[in-house]
Amino acid sequence: MDDEDAIIPLDPLDLRRAFGTFATGVTIITTVDEAGEVYGFTANSFSSVSLDPPLLLVNIAKSAYGLKVFGNAEGFAVNILAENQRELSNTFATKGTDKFAGSSWSSKFTGSPVFDGVIAWFDCESFQQVDAGDHLILIGKVLEYDYNSDAPLGFCRGAYVSYGLSPQMLQLVSSTGSLRVGAVVEVKGNILLETDPDSDEVRIPVADNVGDIHSPDSLLGKLASTGLEAKLPFLYAAYHHGDTRFIYYRGEVLSMKGINESPHLHFFAFDAIPWDAIHDTAVTSMLKRYITERSMGNYSVYLGGHVSGEVYPVKTGD
Ligand SMILES: Cc1cc2nc3c(=O)[nH]c(=O)nc-3n(C[C@H](O)[C@H](O)[C@H](O)COP(=O)(O)O)c2cc1C
Repeated sequence: MDDEDAIIPLDPLDLRRAFGTFATGVTIITTVDEAGEVYGFTANSFSSVSLDPPLLLVNIAKSAYGLKVFGNAEGFAVNILAENQRELSNTFATKGTDKFAGSSWSSKFTGSPVFDGVIAWFDCESFQQVDAGDHLILIGKVLEYDYNSDAPLGFCRGAYVSYGLSPQMLQLVSSTGSLRVGAVVEVKGNILLETDPDSDEVRIPVADNVGDIHSPDSLLGKLASTGLEAKLPFLYAAYHHGDTRFIYYRGEVLSMKGINESPHLHFFAFDAIPWDAIHDTAVTSMLKRYITERSMGNYSVYLGGHVSGEVYPVKTGD
């Protein structure tokens, strides 16, 4: 089916906008010609293809300055850019200039440049090419690669986006040790706190898993036992304490079938929080942060360790 067979005439610019809703990372594809001259262009059409053999692909526009060179090259490299490499991405998305001047890179096995500071690179030999409309699909076989845990540069709807929080979260979630999940839940200026039956220590409600409202030991089950049906849509804090990982959500109350306080679960007005009974300094600072942020309607996320970490603003509204 070619363009003329389309049910409605397709507007290429609009189609590009529709394709652009797919959030991607950003790469720079590089190669070297027989004379030793290096070429590169920014691309987000990268995709992994196969593990055995190890294949990946990228699409190069037939209008690209380097089309012939990439088409004839014995190999090419894929550089996956880090969050702080927007300038490099812009440089390699621009035509004509001496793109490599001012950037630090080294040649890999195929001679293709790999930039310092990327989060991953793949040095490939040319495996296959597929002619596809106004692009040529370059399929490469990976000869060598490396990667690290730095935050990636993202791209969606024609703009760079930051996935900065995600890799740190992933690292936290995927690391070993036990996991405790908790929720900061407020109902009309009253915050739900839990008393540890053994120590009388007061804390933000925690459980071993988020679970559902039917399992009493889960976080949602605990909340449901107070008559609260809550959603946990927002991350509020994530940190390590010893071998334990803590993930706290900021809850949103969906419905309340009357308040049903148990001996261990109570609602406290902000000015009646029993601070002296809260022994965990991370919990104290989380509650204080919540009370301040709530008054401004502007929330953040804490990531790091039990004692020190960083607070990231969360974009809300619009
Ligand atoms: C985020 C982003 C993604 C891009 N993805 C591609 C792509 O996948 N393939 C492509 O041919 N051009 C892509 N481009 C456009 C090229 O980078 C741009 O046309 C560049 O000027 C090509 O350089 P050249 O003509 O000097 O080779 C992208 C640009 C940006 C900013």
